[in-house]
Amino acid sequence: MNVTNAKDFAAAQQPPVKPRSTPVLGAHVAVKSLSHTYRKSDGRVLETVDFEIGHGEVVALLGRSGCGKSTLLHMLAGLTKPSEGEVVINGNPVREPSPKWVMMFQAPSLYPWMTVAQNAALGLRFGRRSNEIATRVPEVLSLVDLGSFADRNAQELSGGQQQRVALARSLAPSPEMLLLDEPFSALDAFTRRSLQQDVRKIAKDLGLTLVIVTHDVGEAVRMADRVLVLKSNPGRIAEDTKIDLSDDERNGGSDAFAAEHTRLMGLYSRVAEIAEMPD
Ligand SMILES: Nc1ncnc2c1ncn2[C@@H]1O[C@H](COP(=O)(O)OP(=O)(O)OP(=O)(O)O)[C@@H](O)[C@H]1O
Ligand SMILES: [Mg+2]
Repeated sequence: MNVTNAKDFAAAQQPPVKPRSTPVLGAHVAVKSLSHTYRKSDGRVLETVDFEIGHGEVVALLGRSGCGKSTLLHMLAGLTKPSEGEVVINGNPVREPSPKWVMMFQAPSLYPWMTVAQNAALGLRFGRRSNEIATRVPEVLSLVDLGSFADRNAQELSGGQQQRVALARSLAPSPEMLLLDEPFSALDAFTRRSLQQDVRKIAKDLGLTLVIVTHDVGEAVRMADRVLVLKSNPGRIAEDTKIDLSDDERNGGSDAFAAEHTRLMGLYSRVAEIAEMPD
């Protein structure tokens, strides 16, 4: 990280804050015969979707625009109730949002006049003691590599740094699952890649279950243990495939990465009925 002023330099001299080492067990998810209709005249958006996600698994939902990815993610988060079927997390049907499963969106939605630390603390303000907030915020800022930016105003940060603050804010209440709806799509390719790697590593280190919505085949190969490929009209799971790569191979450049990318692009193109294109 670049150290650009005295305050950053002082912060860089502090011993790194050790992230909370014992993770919560990542959520187990079961989606059971889930169907959804917004408007009768439009027909079903999702139809008989069934799958499970293991504790600490990283799953990508890959599909074309409008196939129902965000709708499905909102249902996992308890933000939308399915017309039929249910989502069961750790054995309990989901009926409402919970701090145990946190959604992150494409826009980081920070308060620009607040500092990085204040933004990261937002999810902790209710029902927590101030000393708990004072310990947890540096922990999560350190996790997302923003330890020396705590006192900066959010508006002074780049888009990628703002998304890291949003990630810290999501991690602060120690959730069991993170749900990401194309959170990196507005970022340049290099920033996007470093966040993809870091978010996967953080999820694995903490044991978090991670579900990421994407229509980027490369993102799915870099991040996911398993990819569910959705078809459209109505949205259904057409393919359920494992990405069997080591962390080194995921970072690109390897033959193994290229082979998985080609294989997944082939599956996606067949499901989406599009001509194969380079990523
Ligand atoms: N609140 C809503 N009311 C009515 N229809 C909706 C609503 N939200 C989504 N839809 C419709 O449901 C379908 C699936 O939308 P959804 O946002 O889940 O797709 P998506 O796969 O996330 O697409 P994208 O990749 O463009 O974000 C679309 O046809 C959309 O128009
Ligand atoms: Mg969407």
